[in-house]
Amino acid sequence: MARVFRSFVLLAFAFSVAMATDHSPLQDFCVADTNSQVLVNGLACKNPSLVQANDFYFSGLHMMANASNAFGFGVKPVSVTQLPGLNTLGISLARIDFAPWGINPPHAHPRGSEILTVLEGSLEVGFVTSNVENRHISKVLSKGDVFVFPVNLVHYQRNIGKTNAVALAALSSQNPGVNSIANVVFGPNPDIWTDILAKAFQTDPNVIADIQSKF
Ligand SMILES: *[C@@H]1O[C@H](CO)[C@@H](O)[C@H](O)[C@H]1NC(C)=O
Repeated sequence: MARVFRSFVLLAFAFSVAMATDHSPLQDFCVADTNSQVLVNGLACKNPSLVQANDFYFSGLHMMANASNAFGFGVKPVSVTQLPGLNTLGISLARIDFAPWGINPPHAHPRGSEILTVLEGSLEVGFVTSNVENRHISKVLSKGDVFVFPVNLVHYQRNIGKTNAVALAALSSQNPGVNSIANVVFGPNPDIWTDILAKAFQTDPNVIADIQSKF
């Protein structure tokens, strides 16, 4: 009986791990057919006999992402949208550029863990664990350092140098998604009622309205 229970616990654990990120492929590949109208979990497969090398290829990460914005950062994603061959493979990549003191503001990826390496400059990075501990785990990274942000946890990066910084991030999803905290909370369409947020943040509605006006 105990063994059955133990197997069940192990199985439940394995299942939860498998479900934390993208499903495993059921064939060698399933290049996204970007013209298909079929709605499936992921994207429909292009006829495998028509697949070309370019379906597995993307060029452009040698180019900077535009970081001329209020945050001082830019992202060049290479997810299934940019590289159809990623469909069903459960991985993707992104180049992140930072102006001096630029930030990638707090956000979470609902479908992927992220492993990041610094190519140029120095970054201060961190993530926060879920309730109720809400432990803030942070570190300063130099060129060549690697850091991992576990799936769905809120995290951020900041360039702490006087020069541009560049990072390369790999994610365990073809389409990791982004929930930018400020946009999700203060800038949804339509807005969440100001009084709801005032109570949630234990502050004055005018303070909330001011933040809402910026997103
Ligand atoms: C970068 O983005 C800013 C703001 O959107 C824009 O004004 C500027 O032209 C862009 N720069 C380049 C090189 O694309």
